[in-house]
Amino acid sequence: LKIEQYRPQDFTDFTRPENVEAYKVALSKVRSELLGKHYPLIIDGQERDTPQRIESLNPCDTREVVGSTAQATIQDAEDALQGAWAAWPEWKRWTMDARARVLLKAAAILKRRRLEACALMSIEVGKNYAEADVEVAEAIDFLEYYAREAMKYEGFGAAETTWYAGEENGLMYLPLGVGVSISPWNFPCAIFVGMLAAPLVVGNCVIAKPAEDSGMIAGFMVDILREAGLPAGVLQFLPGVGEEVGEYLVQHPKMRFITFTGSRGVGLHINEVAAKPKPGQRWIKRVIMELGGKDALIVDETADLDVAVTAAVQGAFGFNGQKCSAMSRLIVVDAVYDEVVSRFVERAEALKIGTGEENANVTAVVNQESFDKIASYIEIGKGEGKLLTGGELKGEQGYYVTPTIFGDVDSQARIAQEEIFGPVVTVLRARDWAHALEIANSTEYGLTGGVCSRSRERLEQARAEFEVGNLYFNRKITGAIVGVQPFGGYNMSGTDSKAGGPEYLGNFMQLKAVTERF
Ligand code: SER
Repeated sequence: LKIEQYRPQDFTDFTRPENVEAYKVALSKVRSELLGKHYPLIIDGQERDTPQRIESLNPCDTREVVGSTAQATIQDAEDALQGAWAAWPEWKRWTMDARARVLLKAAAILKRRRLEACALMSIEVGKNYAEADVEVAEAIDFLEYYAREAMKYEGFGAAETTWYAGEENGLMYLPLGVGVSISPWNFPCAIFVGMLAAPLVVGNCVIAKPAEDSGMIAGFMVDILREAGLPAGVLQFLPGVGEEVGEYLVQHPKMRFITFTGSRGVGLHINEVAAKPKPGQRWIKRVIMELGGKDALIVDETADLDVAVTAAVQGAFGFNGQKCSAMSRLIVVDAVYDEVVSRFVERAEALKIGTGEENANVTAVVNQESFDKIASYIEIGKGEGKLLTGGELKGEQGYYVTPTIFGDVDSQARIAQEEIFGPVVTVLRARDWAHALEIANSTEYGLTGGVCSRSRERLEQARAEFEVGNLYFNRKITGAIVGVQPFGGYNMSGTDSKAGGPEYLGNFMQLKAVTERF
């Protein structure tokens, strides 16, 4: 590929009135052109509708139906799988650079439609302007980055081997075959497209099973990928119910790999089911997973407390805490506990609550199930700690939860151990730095973490001993940038596959060593 080097997209500056104005124009454009749209399945390049539909509601005002997708049946899933295998022999023969150009074209189209994609997410999942903007930037980055990464794997001898007298030896990378990508609603543009672009660019065919809450933006992205020139059957679009078509495909003997981003519970179930070979199955299914977190930020007595409090607020309440990377535990050493906590509470109380379209700081959580789960954890929290602020729930016309902070919680309490996935923070008091690090490492998760400190020794100790896949010092713990902070966690947080990193594409290939004696 004769193109410039990868560089992440810049974010839009919404302190500039012209950018806010442009966003509002995009919101009205999306309201008039995309609202009410129906996205059918795409099987073998053909649109296919289904008897049942999945409605997508605006979480900030549930009276509004944003649009709908088809709801795939088991037969549709079977057809998608068979069709993808039929398309594979041709697709795997494409060169890496030919496939990479499809991604580059998709990135170019998305750059032109960036504001539309943002506006659609503001309406469909309640992202505010900056959250939506950063996400679409990330989607473009995934396409641009994986296109270039694919070049590393082209041809015989792509990986280093040692010379051996009298023989030619080399390694070649081969795609796996057909996989299913089961993606989440919280990054319904970036993670959705990243989980497709990576396996596709190295020569696999993929069935995209988007989350039920964000089918519109998924359909929007699939349109872009098709416009970019993906051949029929290479990408099958299969919105449907996870427990039905997702389960069917994960179990299927002809499924080669499964890439999943979502909850720990569903992920472990997929892993277990995928591990059992079915009659006719010829391989060990590969499973690539990005699961939950109970991510902690440690603040010690040497920290710049302005930096620490800002990091806490951004990490905890960005997109209402609905990120696997969100700061859901704040661990503060005793010497500065009272000051940090009172400033954190004050900042949380100043956040504006409203809709994504109004560009509020905190918007509605995604759906009833999520709202109910958060509500139940708030009840549990009242018995486990001191409710310092928030805890108010308004669920009549949108799923609103005020930023909620519990103080002086025991590190083994449920709200200190279990992922809540909402704007709820558990604050823990540590005796000192050593105790803080011990608390940080006391959950089964290991996704993101952070330390605010001025002590070089402590930062170095955390670098070695804080058990997380993404560690941040003196800043927020969310917002990994493609290529800059390859993203993924340890332990129950997933397979540490590092999306947006230099080894990610390797997840979707197998290596063959070939030797010829002349
Ligand atoms: N990559 C996102 C972040 O870093 C989470 O999925 O916040």
